[in-house]
Amino acid sequence: MSRQPRSLSDKVVFITGAARGIGRATAVALVAEGARVVIADLDGELAATTARELGAGVGFVQLDVTDHPAFTASLDDVEQSTGPLDVLINNAGVMAIGKAEDDSHERAYRQFAINVFAVMHGTREAIHRMKPRGSGHIVNVASMAGVVPIPGAATYAASKHAVVGFCESLYWELRGTGIDLSYVLPSLVNTELAAGVKRTRAANVIEPEQVANEIVAALKVPRLAVFAPRSMGRITKVTGLIPRRLGDKIMTASGSDHVVLDSLGTDGRDAYEKRVAASAPAADAERAGR
Ligand SMILES: NC(=O)c1ccc[n+]([C@@H]2O[C@H](COP(=O)([O-])OP(=O)(O)OC[C@H]3O[C@@H](n4cnc5c(N)ncnc54)[C@H](O)[C@@H]3O)[C@@H](O)[C@H]2O)c1
Repeated sequence: MSRQPRSLSDKVVFITGAARGIGRATAVALVAEGARVVIADLDGELAATTARELGAGVGFVQLDVTDHPAFTASLDDVEQSTGPLDVLINNAGVMAIGKAEDDSHERAYRQFAINVFAVMHGTREAIHRMKPRGSGHIVNVASMAGVVPIPGAATYAASKHAVVGFCESLYWELRGTGIDLSYVLPSLVNTELAAGVKRTRAANVIEPEQVANEIVAALKVPRLAVFAPRSMGRITKVTGLIPRRLGDKIMTASGSDHVVLDSLGTDGRDAYEKRVAASAPAADAERAGR
């Protein structure tokens, strides 16, 4: 029996990392559904511009998601000014690339602080708020990197595997609470995060709007794993069944074993990597103070 799609009209939705990219596209799609959207982003100026562009009533807040007390305070402010939190979309994320042997603990920690620990903190905060009301939806943006190998982005892949593992377990804890949970697995998306990465057929590059549409669909009819494009779900099932040696051959024949590493040193990539290095001020300060 198919479930009746939910209305998103008037729902209070807080989206992290929504000044640009997938978060922005999701905010646009949710505003079109009549939701009351709050854009949170480290780049406060861009968050303000994006909110203005999306129309009256769209809120914004400058937030470093690795600053957990500030994250909590932002959610408190939104609940006081706009209403109880209906949907939290933990979307903020960064991808630093390079060979694992050249990575530093500082860089790895930064990625985990944003991609994993902030997602866990936001999720805990959302549960505390939603559980007493017996309703709400938490959406954590992972990546196909959470289920397939991404040579040249091993630390990023590890962080996204962590999000998938967290959600697969949490799903069972949330059963019967009235809180829905989804994790999102986009393939390569045309945003700054993918700067410099060659657009090959094997890379399956999609637009942020496609991811946004899948997120909106999952909010209307809840499901746990949200692939974008949807066909990646079927492909992942099939590739999981093929023998390792054949999988390795497909990986090398398609160029997927070096496509990310090939983008190292390109102009767009360098600019993005500089942004990533300044993406977790609170986590950096915490580490430096130790
Ligand atoms: N682009 C892709 O190919 C792709 C593929 C799969 C998954 N994803 C995931 O989608 C999510 C969004 O990525 P995107 O492609 O839109 O990237 P993006 O770089 O276009 O946007 C990410 C946004 O997050 C913000 N941000 C970064 N650190 C932050 C922090 N500490 N606190 C608050 N905001 C912060 C940035 O300022 C930026 O506006 C990420 O979790 C990413 O891992 C992206």
